[in-house]
Amino acid sequence: MTIIKAKDFTEKLSKAGHVRYTKQNASLGKYGPKNPKIISLGLGDPRPDTFIFSEVSATVANLYNKDGSSDSTDSAQTTISLSEKKSPGSLVEGLDVLLQYGDGYGVRSLLGYAKNLVKNSHCPQYEDWDVIISCGSTDGLDKATDVFLNDGDNIIVDEYTYINAIKTFEAKSYNQVSVGMDTEGMIPEELDRVCSNWQGPNPLKAIYLIPTGQNPTGTTMSLQRRKDIYSVCQKHDLIIIEDDPYYYIQFGDAPVADGETTLSPEYLSKLPGTKNLLPSMLLFDVDGRVIRLDSMSKLMAPNLRTGWITAQKRVIDVIRAHTDTTLIRANGLSMGLLSRLLLEEWKEEGFEKHVAFVQKQYVYRRNLLVKSMKERLGNMIEFSVPETGMFVWLKVNLPDEAKREGVVDELFEKMTEKNMLMIPGFLFSADQKNPNVKDIPYFRATFVYAPLEELDMAIERLETVLLEFGCKK
Ligand SMILES: Cc1ncc(COP(=O)(O)O)c(C=O)c1O
Repeated sequence: MTIIKAKDFTEKLSKAGHVRYTKQNASLGKYGPKNPKIISLGLGDPRPDTFIFSEVSATVANLYNKDGSSDSTDSAQTTISLSEKKSPGSLVEGLDVLLQYGDGYGVRSLLGYAKNLVKNSHCPQYEDWDVIISCGSTDGLDKATDVFLNDGDNIIVDEYTYINAIKTFEAKSYNQVSVGMDTEGMIPEELDRVCSNWQGPNPLKAIYLIPTGQNPTGTTMSLQRRKDIYSVCQKHDLIIIEDDPYYYIQFGDAPVADGETTLSPEYLSKLPGTKNLLPSMLLFDVDGRVIRLDSMSKLMAPNLRTGWITAQKRVIDVIRAHTDTTLIRANGLSMGLLSRLLLEEWKEEGFEKHVAFVQKQYVYRRNLLVKSMKERLGNMIEFSVPETGMFVWLKVNLPDEAKREGVVDELFEKMTEKNMLMIPGFLFSADQKNPNVKDIPYFRATFVYAPLEELDMAIERLETVLLEFGCKK
């Protein structure tokens, strides 16, 4: 078997990336108190026997009894704890390590877990890949872009994309180059056309993609689409930032169904669980051009602020050097509790069960909202049924007499007056000041947050608004 090594992209590094790459070995961390032979009078680590917690425990939520299914058997609550020192036989660090400074990679137990998960789920094809723990995708995105992009550099984005990405790129003075989308996300031919005709002052260097359950459009790239996009990126030598926080919330080809059918074992068997998920762009990455951002926010809880970044080792080295001097490392309690839960309490089986639980909750909600939208709104809107994630992206079919400047603002105001909320689509566009974009009546709705019994009520309110604007069912 031939061993593939990642291509060397160091000539593309940003100014900061270059400094971090060339000076990273100057880190003092390797002289730390971990070497028992050294009497350290050197480093600034405080003594662990001054740390304010000697034990931390957390009760694991008893989620699986609340879902209304009859197959639920867990009723006892589970408590996990972290002790002052690593317990004999445990894989997880003690609080003396979790609460201490350390290098940017993150605690080794969670890092090991993440590497294993990446290897088993995405099978990177080249040998020299690595992982670093992040504080979630948004943190990862900030660091990943810093590796390669300087002020004024170009980044290719979807026509509509994650608001915090737009804001991050604006604040860093990147030039955002939008590429058209269809129901599967970015269109490869469009990407190729934009890259082939590019005449801007700086070359196109990087692309930001959300391949699964895209925010805001809810689109998911098929396997073929992922391959096609990857080959266009290869052709134009683009670094790919793959932001994938909705990866585990895939519904496969489970169709829209009523509530009772959705809870039937036959229907639930159509959900992908952890075994039949679409692969990441990493799977095709023979060059080491993908920087993949994983997040635990949507699966576990957002403010654990935990995720991980996978990329070729040189890139991870730069991100680690960045982390060493900014965050230092992700939060030790979050990492420790996640490690205890994932590695020792849930193990593979518990993780699979949790993924199945979240998929079931969200597909149930998707079905409820989509059915209500179809039944109440008919031709007043257009949308595609999302196969992943949290969002439905819809376009209001306004009659000609209602198509006017500012109509999206008017619609939004009326919706809030009637006590329902969706986010106007133009806010997700890098080109949002353009009046042609601002007046296209796209909206993003999410089915995951509102109480179940209020989803239909929200659509009923939307129906009243759309009728007032003269929309026809
Ligand atoms: C595409 C995308 N990336 C990142 C995030 C935030 O993820 P995290 O909490 O891991 O920063 C979101 C959440 O809204 C998102 O939609």
